[in-house]
Parts: sequence; C-alpha cells; structure tokens
Amino acid sequence: MIRNGSLVAFPTETVYGLGANALNTEAIAKIYQAKGRPSDNPLIVHVANLSMVEELVTEIPPLARKAMKRFWPGPLTLVMPRSKKIPDCVTAGLETVAIRMPSHPVAIALIDAAGLPIAAPSANRSGRPSPTKGEHVVEDLDGLIAGIIIGVESQFGVESTVLDVTGKVPEILRPGGVTREMLLEIYPEVRVDPALESVDANRKPKSPGQKYRHYAPKAKMAVLQGSLSFKKEVALERLKHSQGRGVVLASDELARELPDVDVWNLGSYAHPEIAANRLFDLLRMCDARKIEWILAEGYKEEGLGAALMNRMRKAAGGHVIKEEKQ
Ligand code: TXA
Ligand code: MG
Repeated sequence: MIRNGSLVAFPTETVYGLGANALNTEAIAKIYQAKGRPSDNPLIVHVANLSMVEELVTEIPPLARKAMKRFWPGPLTLVMPRSKKIPDCVTAGLETVAIRMPSHPVAIALIDAAGLPIAAPSANRSGRPSPTKGEHVVEDLDGLIAGIIIGVESQFGVESTVLDVTGKVPEILRPGGVTREMLLEIYPEVRVDPALESVDANRKPKSPGQKYRHYAPKAKMAVLQGSLSFKKEVALERLKHSQGRGVVLASDELARELPDVDVWNLGSYAHPEIAANRLFDLLRMCDARKIEWILAEGYKEEGLGAALMNRMRKAAGGHVIKEEKQ
C-alpha cells in the first residue's frame, strides 16, 4: 500500500504514525487531507537505516552523527539540511528536513518492507490528541486511509523530541521522548527554543507545529501549578462548586487528598513518564464522556516532565492556574 501511494497508519514507540511514501508528492497530499492538517506544518520522515538518511540530506552534520550514535533508533527527530530528492510538501517549503529512525519493531519492519523512507505525522485528525492506541486511530481515521497496523499501546505516549542540528549549537524545538537531561550527556551546550517557554504569543517557534493549539480536548482545560496543598485546595473548590461535568487529572499523591469521584489517575508524581503515557488517552476519554471542564495537575519540568507539561499546556490552550509565591 505504501508503494502504491496509499496511506497506512502504524505503531511507533512514541505515538501511532500516519505513513506515506516520503518521495511521492501525491501520497503526501493525502496525508494533509486525511488529517485536515495545515500545509505549513512539515512532516517527519521515518527511516530504517543510514543510507536512507544520506539520500534525504545534503550532509549529515557532525552534531547529528553524535545524536544518531547515542539515541537512534528511538524517539529523537533530527532537523538537517534537505536534499533536492525530498518533495517541498514534506518540508512545507523549509530548507531543512526532519528525520527519525523509530525503535518500534513494526515501524522498522514496515519501512524495510516498503524499501522507502516513510513520511508520518501522528495518526490523529489535526487538533485532536495524538493516538497512543490502535483504537484512537480507528476513531479518527477509519474510512479515510487504506490501512492500519494495530499493535500494542505506545511505550512513551508523547511524541519524539525534535532537535535542530543545523547550527553551531543543537536546539530543542519540541520536548519529547529523549529528554533534555539525556541530550546534555552528549551536548553540554544544548539549548531550548526560547519561544517554547515564552508567554509572548508573538514569538514564533522554530518548529511550525508548536504554534497550533494541538492535542486539544473539547472540554475547557486548565493546568494547576504549585504546592500539593495549593493544588488540593483549588481542586476541592472546583469539584464542589463547578457547573457541568468535570474531572481532575491527578497524581496518586494528589488523588489521595481528593474525593473518589471525578478524579482520574496520572500515576505517581515521582514518575512523569506514567502521566505522559496516559495523558492523550485520558483526554480522549474526556471527549467520549462529554466532559465539560478538566483540571490537570502540573508536574515538574524535569525528564519526561518537560514533554508532559508542554503537551498539557497546549491542550489547555496555555491556561495555567499558578500559586502566588509569597
Ligand atoms: O514521535 C513522533 O515524532 C511522531 C511519530 C509518528 O514518529 N510523529 C509526529 O509527527 O509527532 P507530527 O507531524 O505530529 O509532528 C512533527 C513536528 C511538528 O511540530 C513539525 O512542525 C516539526 O515536527 N517539524 C517537521 N519538520 C520540521 C523542520 N524541517 N523544521 C522544524 N520543525 C519541523
Ligand atoms: Mg502531531
């Protein structure tokens, strides 16, 4: 199907991908159409070996080689200078191309069998939470694509880290499965795109996808940040007085302080990777149950907590309730 120019969704270790032949313009057009994706948001090209990479770029920067050696195959996407072989619609006209070698055995087997690099965004309709289970893909794309390979639940549950390695200093454009702390081990100088942390809406992120209100549930959502006692106080107040159906997404530690009903569990506060793994599934559950408001507990921005918080803030459209510091 991939060789015919059709769309096939497949599991990866981060989230499910919606794949098409990366070298076929018409196949790529189908991706944008099935997802309802804005055409200025470029795609990630998935490869199974290094010789596929060599055809897609003008050069592999030394910075990129270092990261490939340590973190490929895995949840790290590298932005590199693109070659002429890659169609404009894949890169949305940029001079760079984003490439990733996934570690999921089914993903690698699919790319190998097709014998082609596979362009694949997350396999959700644009604006919906990313799919971490086969049923999420069916929910969003059944009838719109040729095939779905259903595997097990995604291991990470958040997307790959997007790292720009075209400059002197590597820069994180999207936090993800390979954490900043892990990247610091090979690049003491790594930086984070300042637009990711800025509240100034006019600052343009370098990864076009970061400007959209992504991952959004239908409910009105807010993220709670502060001490456990502050989060408990706000959540109790909300559960008592809010109109409409709502839920609190809380760690074990916070959930213990709250009534049993309308509190959904994100796992231990010490393990943001559990919360990251559950977040998108819980947001979809909110839609399915017609939840009208969501309060999500904020985590520390450490390790996978950084990716978790990036996705939570986006889902909430930037709405954060913060404890005032005395
Ligand atoms: O984990 C993942 O990365 C998943 C799985 C399927 O591999 N894919 C994924 O794709 O998350 P998508 O399309 O949902 O997100 C791709 C991100 C977008 O934010 C896009 O703007 C950015 O990568 N991107 C793609 N090409 C880029 C480029 N040349 N420069 C900067 N950012 C780029
Ligand atoms: Mg996506």
